[in-house]
Amino acid sequence: MSENFIEIKDLRFSYINDLEEPPVKTEVLKGVTLNIKKGEFLAVLGHNGSGKSTLAKCINAINLPEAGGVFVDGMDTLDEDNLLPIRQRVGMVFQNPDNQIVATIVEEDVAFALENMGVEPAEIRRRVDEALKTVGMYEYRLHAPHKLSGGQKQRVAIAGIIAMRPDCILLDEPTAMLDPKGREEVMKTIKLLNSQGVTIVLITHYMEEAAQADRVVVIDGGEVVMDDVPRKIFSQVEKMKELGLDVPQVTELAWELQKAGFDISTEIIDEDECVEKLAELFGK
Ligand SMILES: Nc1ncnc2c1ncn2[C@@H]1O[C@H](COP(=O)(O)OP(=O)(O)OP(=O)(O)O)[C@@H](O)[C@H]1O
Ligand SMILES: [Mg+2]
Repeated sequence: MSENFIEIKDLRFSYINDLEEPPVKTEVLKGVTLNIKKGEFLAVLGHNGSGKSTLAKCINAINLPEAGGVFVDGMDTLDEDNLLPIRQRVGMVFQNPDNQIVATIVEEDVAFALENMGVEPAEIRRRVDEALKTVGMYEYRLHAPHKLSGGQKQRVAIAGIIAMRPDCILLDEPTAMLDPKGREEVMKTIKLLNSQGVTIVLITHYMEEAAQADRVVVIDGGEVVMDDVPRKIFSQVEKMKELGLDVPQVTELAWELQKAGFDISTEIIDEDECVEKLAELFGK
């Protein structure tokens, strides 16, 4: 866990709208420095418009730096020769599963990118089966994707990405359109992949999801304003609220109790811990 897989150095990025006269420039990333280690599970938080998706697209070389640099496995995103190898190492999963599904049969959808990459049919078969088993969708391999639930569709989309054997998966609000069950299925899949060594960058608005990461980065106004383990991030309840963000419900509860004069720490991010502390506090 010591080697940096992604290095972002003083990254600046602006959108330029040429349709306006004179062209309108929107500065979005204003000097982001961030290293992500191989095998790490990083969550990225920030209120709407803070620049999270823009940052994700910089990692995947969809957006190129205006100043500073982005390096994936040592490869500079500005060098065009690195484009394919970078996209092979870093897979992207987006919010809307419907926009990511291209075929009418699940296994064909998962095979799609591999076919385009010219992978041998026998190898495609192996990888597709393995990817579908990993996301728990193997028994649906011959089903029609559009008939699946949101969570199932999103897992098929993830299977399509892992079939390409990326080192890192960047997920931009992958659970935003899912029901609670679908969200849980996708989180379980993400954690399984991470346990197999895949580096995870998860952009989310769900604090309970971010609490499960190794590390949380908070973006505000195109800058990294917080970077720590989830417990240390969420225990700063007031600061999070100032940034327009929530904290997990159990942290909020501890904070309210603390405000009411109870002797309880806000460094609580999961339910079991919360139960334990409450039992201590109320002597049961
Ligand atoms: N293609 C574009 N052209 C011009 N401005 C853009 C473009 N895409 C995003 N922006 C602007 O850049 C800023 C950052 O957008 P971005 O999508 O990165 O935010 P975000 O943190 O992902 O927000 P959300 O939580 O809503 O997904 C916003 O002000 C947005 O309006
Ligand atoms: Mg976004």
